[in-house]
Amino acid sequence: MTLTCATARRLRHLSLLQRYGGRAPRYTSYPTAAQFTPAVDADLYATWLSALPVRKPVSVYVHIPFCARLCWYCGCSARAVHRPATVSDYVRLVTQEVGLAEARLPARLAVSAIHLGGGTPNMTSPEDLETLFAALRRAFAVAPGAEIAAEIDPTQLGEAWVRAAAGCGLTRASLGVQDLSPEVQAAVNRIEPFETVARAAALLRDAGVASLNLDLMYGLPKQRAHHLLATLERVLTLEPDRLALFGYAHVPWMRPHQKLIDEAALAGPAERLEQSEAAAERLTGAGYVRIGLDHYARPDDSLARALAAGRLRRNFQGYTDDQAQTLLGFGASAIGRLPQGYVQNFADELTWRKRIAAGELATARGLALTDEDRFRAEIIERLMCALSVDLEGVRRRHGRDASELAGARAALAGFEADGLVALDGPTVAVTELGRPFLRSVCALFDAGAGASGLRPSQVV
Ligand SMILES: C[S@@+](CC[C@H](N)C(=O)[O-])C[C@H]1O[C@@H](n2cnc3c(N)ncnc32)[C@H](O)[C@@H]1O
Ligand code: SF4
Repeated sequence: MTLTCATARRLRHLSLLQRYGGRAPRYTSYPTAAQFTPAVDADLYATWLSALPVRKPVSVYVHIPFCARLCWYCGCSARAVHRPATVSDYVRLVTQEVGLAEARLPARLAVSAIHLGGGTPNMTSPEDLETLFAALRRAFAVAPGAEIAAEIDPTQLGEAWVRAAAGCGLTRASLGVQDLSPEVQAAVNRIEPFETVARAAALLRDAGVASLNLDLMYGLPKQRAHHLLATLERVLTLEPDRLALFGYAHVPWMRPHQKLIDEAALAGPAERLEQSEAAAERLTGAGYVRIGLDHYARPDDSLARALAAGRLRRNFQGYTDDQAQTLLGFGASAIGRLPQGYVQNFADELTWRKRIAAGELATARGLALTDEDRFRAEIIERLMCALSVDLEGVRRRHGRDASELAGARAALAGFEADGLVALDGPTVAVTELGRPFLRSVCALFDAGAGASGLRPSQVV
């Protein structure tokens, strides 16, 4: 009996999934947020803020935790709201929080990037948005070429908001699409026809927002590879500059509303891998550059250029070409990164509101980075971004002992035998076959993998 190529590939994937397809963090940071503790509090954060270098630009993240409705798959920190005043009050508090941080900073720092995430930043009114940017521009010197990005729910996008956002300097819009098939949309409580996405894209481009990213997902309930491919055919007509293709992270123990999803309708690991690889083939065939774990960009996009130049970075928002070493987070649940370590605000919105209204920073937890953390973080970030790392170079730069990597090196031999990585002296390079298992490769260098007791999502 002869096997067809497709069958042989499927069998190979199945055997790889059994060995390497477990659970691992998405490594938007190292150590991951699961390892943050209350040892980092508002007082320590204030000290860290005051010690920031005066001449280095920072990036800013603002979390808007509101949505028009809750999509059942959602893993973000968000809730449905129906009263505009709830959002406006929140934005007013964010401006106060910006003032609280500003009072502790050593100078009026330059900002190289602003990212509005959520939730749904376009749940703000145009006036809320202008209030927010006025506060940010008062507190920081927003650099002329700064990237200003917002995550946008196309179903809630109005012309007035787009005008206000363009006036505030929006340079990149990221539209949530997921999957356009009606049966998949019904299975996740998110009805969003293609025409709605196309209208949002046109509004943003007509207003001068230069760069468009679309978020898609695979592994959703009832979703099959043909749904995803049909979705791609339609969204490619919009000529997005970037696409993100996230594997659905089903973590109902962390996001209880995901229990509304019918688990029997979820694809297994082999089908998930087939979906993501089918999409990768279609997107690379359309000329997009595959970036890291889950992104695609046109070759002239800044993300693809950063990859080519070895400047691609990974942060809490995913992949970025922003080089700032400091990220200041504002809003409930927002995470920041400072040279000294990570900080996270209270995720509970009420607690966050009370703290800010009382004139206090709302830091709930975080992590002070050790030298070993920085060493491991660099290896993991290089792997997540470039898919390759010179272990010896990183080890020497950080003055670490070779014995610290002995366990990971031994484990890599198995990955190499299966064709997932290529080892060339001290250099580890993840192969295309190994790309879907990138998180598992990174986990080899994670000193605390599994230590938090929280189960992360599936790697594929
Ligand atoms: C904050 S949301 C996007 C903005 C906007 N609220 C929307 O939904 O259109 C960011 C993206 O995260 C992705 N996402 C949300 N929940 C996820 C999950 N459980 N697993 C993987 N990706 C997820 C979706 O692609 C979503 O568009
Ligand atoms: S996917 Fe977007 S709109 Fe849906 S609940 Fe999550 S943040 Fe809100």
